[in-house]
Amino acid sequence: MPAPLLAPSLLAGDHAALGASAATAAAAGAPWLHLDIMDGHFVPNLTFGPEVLAALRRSGVQTFFDTHLMLAEPHRYVEAFAKAGANLISIHIEPDYDHAATLARIRALGCQCGIVLNPGTPADAVRALLPQVDLVLVMTVQPGFGGQAFRREMLPKIAQIDAWRREQGLSFRLEVDGGIDLQTGAECRAAGTDTFVAGTSFFRATDKAAFVRTVAGW
Ligand code: DX5
Ligand code: ZN
Repeated sequence: MPAPLLAPSLLAGDHAALGASAATAAAAGAPWLHLDIMDGHFVPNLTFGPEVLAALRRSGVQTFFDTHLMLAEPHRYVEAFAKAGANLISIHIEPDYDHAATLARIRALGCQCGIVLNPGTPADAVRALLPQVDLVLVMTVQPGFGGQAFRREMLPKIAQIDAWRREQGLSFRLEVDGGIDLQTGAECRAAGTDTFVAGTSFFRATDKAAFVRTVAGW
């Protein structure tokens, strides 16, 4: 199973100083930075686009970019995000497009690829794609906004996907996103998660380095 790690979400950073917020996460020792891309269609909110990733790279941010595309048409944008400096690009299973081809395209662009499930989407929806992905992201809130309450009823879905991972001898990361802090994260860890997105709880934490170290020690 992959080593546990924390991916702070820049959504909860200072949007007038995203470079400084990314640097704060890196300085705390976070190996990944989670970047939430919203289009106002798949989710009822807007964030930022590939130019922000490119600007973060130009400003010297070297962290692994875990890019979460909440887009109705992600296949139209994967190349732009790869060129902008994404290391991993995750796409949702819910919209209607060629998921397998888009995952293969992400790989061909030199990035790792992930598939994402909304809270209302059953684990079965991604089962056939598991051999093809580097990461499965189980949303533990309805995507669109930070600061929502963790949905504990997602724990059996996490355990199911972890069980398939073991049965099939696969090594993809299993990530959770939404309402994650040290308490809810520990519950997800017990269910099989290894990769933990934290927005609000990370940027509010007084000792961010301790937060990163605690997750890495799980
Ligand atoms: C929600 C985003 C999350 C968000 C999590 O749509 O996908 O990544 O930043 O924020 P918190 O950790 O505050 O729930
Ligand atoms: Zn996210």
